[in-house]
Amino acid sequence: MKPKIYITRKLPDAIIAQLSEVCEVSMWENEEEPVPREVLEKEMQQVNGLFCLLTDNIDKSLISQSSQLKIISNMAVGYNNIDIEAATEKGIMVTNTPGVLTETTADLTFALLMATARRLIEASDYLHEGKWETWSPMQLTGQDIYGATLGIIGLGRIGEALAKRAKGFDMNVLYYNRSRKFVAEEQLGIHYVDKETLLKESDFVCVLVPFTPETKNTIDQNELALMKPSSVLINTARGGVVNEDALYKALINNEIWAAGLDVFEVEPVPSDHPLLKLPNVVALPHIGSAGINTRIKMASLAASNLIEGILGRIPKHLVNS
Ligand code: NAP
Ligand code: GLV
Repeated sequence: MKPKIYITRKLPDAIIAQLSEVCEVSMWENEEEPVPREVLEKEMQQVNGLFCLLTDNIDKSLISQSSQLKIISNMAVGYNNIDIEAATEKGIMVTNTPGVLTETTADLTFALLMATARRLIEASDYLHEGKWETWSPMQLTGQDIYGATLGIIGLGRIGEALAKRAKGFDMNVLYYNRSRKFVAEEQLGIHYVDKETLLKESDFVCVLVPFTPETKNTIDQNELALMKPSSVLINTARGGVVNEDALYKALINNEIWAAGLDVFEVEPVPSDHPLLKLPNVVALPHIGSAGINTRIKMASLAASNLIEGILGRIPKHLVNS
């Protein structure tokens, strides 16, 4: 008898086929809506493997209901949606999908930086709304990117890939990270500074740390107060890494110039959220890794992780070894 697995969202046929070779697969067939909690609770009681997304809150209470679960495979590099301690206590493996999304997420981060700095959404709306009557010297002017200083908080895989893009724009790149990255400093010509110096000196600040108890509110009132009034904050990490109330206040008080956000404390962000009302906020619906090929690679990697775990082997991308 094949081991049973549950997939929390409709996946491409090729991925189902990959999983079906080894497992008996059942799946939440809806592409657009997350699996209801009660369905997930029932499935957790009977499956050996769970394939889940970052939208699924795999908390302690859910994990405690599982009796034969061996592995939780998350189709994301971030895994703050899973209670790792609870899973580890029950001997359940947890895996993620690092690497395959690095370049695509760095692309989106740089695209968001450019869109925010050069007011692309505002300018496009201006044109579409019939407001463009003439060219004028200071019309829709934004912040220059070429040659500016970029500060990266969290120089991991995506942070390094972002630094490479920034060097192509002749940017001066500063970074702050839990550990120093001497090789990256040497290879990319980037500079390690403390967080305070980074915030004071950067024209653009990008946060790329995982969401953990230590990184919650990495950017809060005090950090925003250190930033230049002309600076731009970009968050493509997780919502909780930036305190949204503090960010709103900093934006309306002109403490910083603009923000580009791909992630929010609550997702989907409510459409009446105050930050969405500000013209100097560019907001995206968590599309950092949303390249077609990248998403297929992420799904396939999550499937491989799950198969490894189900077969009793140690998956390559185990996060709770
Ligand atoms: P990664 O390679 O693990 O990089 C994370 C970096 O953050 C590491 O260099 C780590 O330092 C550093 N870090 C961790 N805790 C820290 C702390 N308390 N203070 C300072 N630095 C700290 O991860 P990645 O693949 O680059 O991904 C980073 C995050 O991006 C993910 O966790 C996810 O939340 C987010 N993400 C978002 C999207 C999107 O769609 N918007 C897509 C992909 C990823 P060490 O080197 O010392 O460990
Ligand atoms: C996306 O946000 C991821 O963590 O992969």
